[in-house]
Amino acid sequence: MTASAFSSPAPARAAGDSIVIEARNLTLALGRPPARTEILRGIDLIVHAGDSVALLGPSGSGKSSLMAVLSGMERPTGGSVHVAGLDFDRLNEDQLAVARRGRIGIILQAFHLLPTMTALENVAVPLELAGRPDAFATAEAELEAVGLGHRLTHYPAQLSGGEQQRVAIARALAPRPPLLFADEPTGNLDGTTGAAIMDLLFRRHADTGATLFVITHDPNLADRCDRVISLADGRIVRDGRAA
Ligand SMILES: Nc1ncnc2c1ncn2[C@@H]1O[C@H](COP(=O)(O)OP(=O)(O)O)[C@@H](O)[C@H]1O
Ligand SMILES: [Mg+2]
Repeated sequence: MTASAFSSPAPARAAGDSIVIEARNLTLALGRPPARTEILRGIDLIVHAGDSVALLGPSGSGKSSLMAVLSGMERPTGGSVHVAGLDFDRLNEDQLAVARRGRIGIILQAFHLLPTMTALENVAVPLELAGRPDAFATAEAELEAVGLGHRLTHYPAQLSGGEQQRVAIARALAPRPPLLFADEPTGNLDGTTGAAIMDLLFRRHADTGATLFVITHDPNLADRCDRVISLADGRIVRDGRAA
């Protein structure tokens, strides 16, 4: 975690032909009438493997909801989603949870760390469940990579918000998922730590060819992505290659 992380090279531009996210006419409405809210209003989106995509938009525009649908955490009201070779419509909740494991990494705004497990266990146990014999060694290396090598045996309640965020990031990165979703991953971090974490995400993206789909308010972060998509009121209003 040093300020020099600011000066790492721009990520390589990947140009994979295979499609990793394909959404057709996605809609999402939540709540019951008269409080029913149309959150996503017909999203068509194709993302190619290896791309980095920034999703921008005002608060309440539907960014987190779109990510929830694309990552299989929320079912759409209408339309179809194919992600990482999976047809979400054909899988029940349990099948989806199993299928996501190892394929899709998710960094949420709320960290969802298990309070009764240490930082190390929070990262290692999912790896163990996935059958990795080196789970604890890998987890330790991932926590060191996010600057938490000195907090391995701390419980979430003993960590600051930014530290908890970094544990959640280490947990998402540890299985080396080919598709990584992140919802404002640096929102709880100070500038220097946030920049170092973003460098780590982009380094993984470059090293492993993982597709990176990141919600952000940070224009500098968006500039580092291959593609910038803007959402407003549940619709894509801009979609272009970054300059
Ligand atoms: N469970 C829910 N029921 C009804 N409306 C919801 C629910 N969850 C989110 N919303 C509404 O959906 C809209 C989009 O939310 P969200 O996807 O979190 O936006 P963003 O991430 O862009 O800030 C907001 O207006 C929010 O109030
Ligand atoms: Mg959000």
